Amino acid sequence: MSKCKVIAIANQKGGVAKTTTAVNLGAGLVREGKKVLLIDFDAQGDLTTSLGFNKDNVDVTIKSLLEKTLNQVPINQSEGVLKNAEGIDLIPANIELESLEMHLTSVINREYVLTKFINQIKKDYDYILIDCQPSLGLLTINALASADSVIIPVQAQYLPIRGMVQLIQTIDKVKAIINPKLKIEGVLLTLADKQTRLAKATEETLRSNYGSMLKIFKSVIPVATKVAEATTEGKSIYAYDKSNKASIAYENFIKEVLENRERLKTRDTQCR
Ligand SMILES: Nc1ncnc2c1ncn2[C@@H]1O[C@H](COP(=O)(O)OP(=O)(O)O)[C@@H](O)[C@H]1O
Ligand SMILES: [Mg+2]
Repeated sequence: MSKCKVIAIANQKGGVAKTTTAVNLGAGLVREGKKVLLIDFDAQGDLTTSLGFNKDNVDVTIKSLLEKTLNQVPINQSEGVLKNAEGIDLIPANIELESLEMHLTSVINREYVLTKFINQIKKDYDYILIDCQPSLGLLTINALASADSVIIPVQAQYLPIRGMVQLIQTIDKVKAIINPKLKIEGVLLTLADKQTRLAKATEETLRSNYGSMLKIFKSVIPVATKVAEATTEGKSIYAYDKSNKASIAYENFIKEVLENRERLKTRDTQCR
C-alpha cells in the first residue's frame, strides 16, 4: 500500500463548504505532522484564494501540469507547488481550467489524466486532497478516478436527497468501471446552525436514512462567522481563531479521518 492517501472532496452542489473543508482538513493534517498537498480542481480558484494566493498571478496551475501530462512531458519534483504560510503545499487553479475540461472530452483515457499526474508526485506526500468543482463532469470524474476515498460535505440546513443519490450513483459507477479501490470516507455535515430545528431534523434524517450504508462523521461543523473571515484572510480557522467552535469541530473531524485510516491499516495487516 502506498503511504500516500488521496482524498477527493466532492459534491455537485456549490456552497456546501467543500473548499473550506479542504483548507481546514489540510491545515489540520499539517498540524498533525503530515505532509499534505492540496490540489485546486475548480476553475473558480477559491482554494487558491483561500490559501492566500492571487489566482490570476500564478504561472503554473493544475491545468498546465495536466497538459504536460497529456503531452507525455515529465513533471519535475515540486513543479508548480506553492507553499503557504501554514506549511500547506498547493497546486493552484484559475479560470483556465475550464478549457481543459472541454479539451479532455476528445482525449484517449480522458478519465485518468489526473491519476497519471498524481502518480508522479504522490511519493512526497502523506495526503493529497482534491477540492472538486460543483459538478459531476469530467474533472470530478478524474478526481474520483485518482482518489482512495471521497469526503462528501453536505449543508446541514437542507438535505438534497436527489443530489446525494446522484452523487453516490456516480461514485458507484466510477468504482465499478474506473477505480475499484474508491471508498466513501464519509459524509460531513457543515454549516450547521444548531439553533434551528431544520438543522437538527436534517441531521436526524441523514443519520437514520443513510447511517447504515454510509459513514456519517460524528463531528458536525457549525456555522461560525470566523470561518468565512479566516478564508478572506487566507488562513485556516486554527490560525485565525483556535478556540472557535468550528475550529474544535474541524479538529474532531480530523481525528475521525485519522482513525479511519488506522482502522483500515489494522484491517489490512490482519488480512495478510
Ligand atoms: N462553518 C462555516 N461557517 C460560516 N461560513 C462558512 C462555513 N463554512 C463555509 N462557509 C462559507 O460558506 C461559503 C461556501 O463555502 P465553500 O467552502 O466555498 O463551499 P463550496 O466549496 O462547496 O462551494 C463561503 O463563503 C465560506 O466562507
Ligand atoms: Mg469550492
